Amino acid sequence: MDNDERKVAALQGGDTPIHEKHLPELLERYRNSRVRFTTDLAEATRASEAIFIAVGTPQSETGDADLSYVEAVACEIARSISSYKVIVEKSTVPVYTNEWICRALERNGVPRQLFDVVSNPEFLREGTAVVDFLHPDRIVVGADGNRAASLLQDIYSPLTTGKYYEVADAIAGECGASDPPQLLLTSTKSAEIIKHASNAFLALKISFINAVSNLCEAADADVEQVARGMGLDRRIGPRFLRPGIGYGGSCFPKDVAAFRSVAEQLGIDFGLLTEVEKINAQQKKRFLAKIRSALWTLRGKRLGVLGLAFKGETDDIRESPALDLVRMLLAEGCNLTVYDPAAMPRTKEALPEGSNLRYATDAYTAASGADALVILTDWQEFAALDLVRLSKSLRYPIVIDGRNLYEPQKMVDHGFTYLSVGRAVGHPVRAALAAAN
Ligand code: UDX
Repeated sequence: MDNDERKVAALQGGDTPIHEKHLPELLERYRNSRVRFTTDLAEATRASEAIFIAVGTPQSETGDADLSYVEAVACEIARSISSYKVIVEKSTVPVYTNEWICRALERNGVPRQLFDVVSNPEFLREGTAVVDFLHPDRIVVGADGNRAASLLQDIYSPLTTGKYYEVADAIAGECGASDPPQLLLTSTKSAEIIKHASNAFLALKISFINAVSNLCEAADADVEQVARGMGLDRRIGPRFLRPGIGYGGSCFPKDVAAFRSVAEQLGIDFGLLTEVEKINAQQKKRFLAKIRSALWTLRGKRLGVLGLAFKGETDDIRESPALDLVRMLLAEGCNLTVYDPAAMPRTKEALPEGSNLRYATDAYTAASGADALVILTDWQEFAALDLVRLSKSLRYPIVIDGRNLYEPQKMVDHGFTYLSVGRAVGHPVRAALAAAN
């Protein structure tokens, strides 16, 4: 159920409103049989044993999560309940939201025995959402009663027993099905904190490796080697140690801020989170400085820009560090020709084409005649460009890569001046050592 009529109509007609791998085939297969779409919340509530609330929890001006959509939907659900329901918080919400939902339902006249509220946070990533959903590392169910917990256990049994349905089976096979995930039962408050703490920890990992990447640049070391060496320690793990231009998206920035705010409200000084945010903001500024260092001055320079989405394989531009950098470069007086495989339609709405901002049809057109090429998003197709063609397209063979998509030596061999993150090719110390050898 969604109150956006256009979205519901599109889904009813078989269109997926977002760019997400495997979603079209799942929709095609199950539309009008196991999944139906409606704008009628009362009808959806009556027909369901469990009701998942998955509305937005945007960041408010104070950094808190704005829970007004959660409250509104809880009140609306309350008006339609006439038999026992389990209300499932799927949205990312701060600790205590569960209690607020219970209170909202009771205030709106629903007897306590007619509902339970459980917290069931989602850990999937955009772009790999379907596979992440089918292969979660864990499923967290925060429930304060057995009846609700056992309904959620039933709902997830196809995943926890490893028995997938039809199309899902094909997808499960495609990504090399691993062991079924554990379903972890916790209290509702613990589940709420698990979600915020997990996202904040992942953001911390990224900020940590970004800080290390700056250190590597200063010391003429290679952050990719450092990350590999760290990640082989199973206590650290290799994932989310990719340096870059900082994290973005609809989750990490807002969740780190919300978790910090929750801590503050509970009287806990969690200054570490402020540092995570600070490093993230600095990373973009450092990258801008890197572009400037390659070009001397920025005003009037023509740059090809690859990537607008907040990460590869998605069309989402919310809190995109790539878009932040595009804005920063425009403010510096650069003329940009940008390209993204999926995020251009959304970006055009926020940043219309103009004399200093053009949208290209492919990566080579974006690079054509440019003083340098800037890579901002880790799309797989950007890592597989024809370097000879790219070099010919550019006015000067300069590539400033914010996602470390290329081996520095390979780029140098192709005649590029190549700057990336945490890998100081051309660093004076290295150059001196090379000369000495
Ligand atoms: C994130 C969480 O991973 C997911 O568990 C949660 O449910 C929603 O938020 P998502 O926002 O889709 O998922 O993207 P993710 O893949 O986590 O990337 C977030 C940002 O961090 C992107 O900007 C990405 O480019 C950046 N990132 C990620 C890095 O810079 N380095 C990394 O190693 C990983």
